[in-house]
Formats: sequence, C-alpha cells, structure tokens
Amino acid sequence: MTESIKGIILAGGLGSRLYPLTKVTNKHLLPVYNKPMIFYPLEALVQAGIHDVMLVTGGNSAGDFMRLLGNGHAYGLRSLSYAYQEGEGGIAHALSLTREFAGDSKVAVILGDNIIEENIKPFVSKFRKQKKGARLLLKEVDDAQRFGVAEIRGKKIIRIVEKPKNPKSRFAVTGIYFFDNQVYKITRNLRPSGRGELEITDVNNSYIKQGALEFDVLRKSWTDAGTFESLYRANQLARALSYPSQAKRS
Ligand code: DAU
Repeated sequence: MTESIKGIILAGGLGSRLYPLTKVTNKHLLPVYNKPMIFYPLEALVQAGIHDVMLVTGGNSAGDFMRLLGNGHAYGLRSLSYAYQEGEGGIAHALSLTREFAGDSKVAVILGDNIIEENIKPFVSKFRKQKKGARLLLKEVDDAQRFGVAEIRGKKIIRIVEKPKNPKSRFAVTGIYFFDNQVYKITRNLRPSGRGELEITDVNNSYIKQGALEFDVLRKSWTDAGTFESLYRANQLARALSYPSQAKRS
C-alpha cells in the first residue's frame, strides 16, 4: 500500500491587502475567473491523488466555506475537515493547527491563494520516495522581492529569505510545501517574526539546517492572488487554463 499523504489548504489570514474586496467576505471565496479562489488549490490536491484534506480558515465568513464545499465529496475528496484560525498568526501558525488531523502522516500543504498550472502529482511521488525532510516547489519570477526567495548553491538551497529587498536569486518559494511529520515539532518551537507571525520560511530554514530540504522547479505558470495585481494575473491565468484558445485571442 502506498503511504498516505494528507492534504492541507491554508486559507486563514485577513486578506487585508485586498481590502475592501475582503471587507464582507474571505479572500479565498473571491472569484478567480469562473470559480471561487479556493477551488484551485483544492483541485490541485485532488488531481495529485490526495483525497483527505483539512482546510484551515478564519475571520467572519468561515461558515461560508462549509456552505460552498460541504463534505468535499462533490469535488472528489474522501474527507474534508475544517480548522479555525483565530486572528492572523502566520502561515506556520495555521499549519500548526492541523497536527491532530495529520496524525503520523506526511503532509502536502498548499496556500489557499495559489494557482498552479502544473499537475503536482510527480512531485508528490518524489516526496513519497523521500525518506525524510521537506520538499519545496520553486518558480522563477520577475518580482522575487514579493516572496520567500531561495538562495541556491549547486543542487542545494542554502537559505531562504522572506521578502528580501535585494533578492539573491529569481527563484520564489511557491506556496506548495511537502513536509514530514517533524514539521509539527518545528512549528511548536517557532518564535514570531518582526511582523508578529510564525513564518513558513523559518520552518523551511530549519529543514535546511538539518540538510533535509529538497526542491523542484515549476516549468509552467504559477501565481498567488493576494494583491490586486496578482489577483488580476490569477484571473488571466485561470482564463487561459479554462479556454486556451479564447485567452490567446485577447
Ligand atoms: O505564495 C507564496 C508566498 O506565500 C511565499 O513565497 C512566502 O514565502 C510566504 O510567506 C507567503 O507570502 P505571502 O505574503 O503571499 O503570504 P500571505 O500573508 O499573503 O498568506 C498567503 C496565504 O497563507 C493566505 O492566502 C492564507 C494563508 N495564511 C496566511 C496567514 C498570514 C493563513 O492561513 N494564516 C495566516 O495567518
């Protein structure tokens, strides 16, 4: 039997960079072309063969996720669990809330505002074969300073810096992360960053210190959708993925 990997979608936070769009609803319920934003990460997990998922959300509209997704069966899931994150404690804080759900399993984590063209199944397979540690997906971008940026030497990432003013490479760390079960020990020992959040970049740097971080580079399109500009780009990407011929014409 293949080892089970549990899926986690992180859709907490307050979406303050998209205000007033996020005044009365959750960022991850906003439309991205013809679907609510949250459908994209969910479909990425289902397409990769991950069928047991926990969604972490927060804020006032949390109940709307259940109205939209229910038990997840209609979307190809075997089970969909929910966790509620109070406030905006950071991505690693949201992840820490899924410890009970994960049990002893490895986890595939995707941020609720990430839209990815590539099927992540091959990366999931590589991670299954990986004895321990974490695996990241990188993407070469023009605006690396907006992301966690990987400094690469040879075939290894030697450091990740969160939103550097002067990025050391063009490789952004995308919001798709594969972790072994150790991640919960790491999140338990994190301290809040300068912006008061438990940072996923600190989790990844901790795996680097152990020499246990692997990575792949995405060849096809990827974007987040947390700012007006990236949300606009996400709409364009989603349109191109739905109707490749129409998108080319405009
Ligand atoms: O999209 C990739 C980037 O995502 C990475 O390159 C960065 O290293 C990583 O820190 C993150 O950066 P962002 O600035 O885009 O993170 P943001 O605060 O926008 O949060 C992204 C998603 O994470 C959000 O849509 C939901 C989830 N989240 C975020 C926070 C702050 C939570 O579930 N809880 C939270 O408290």
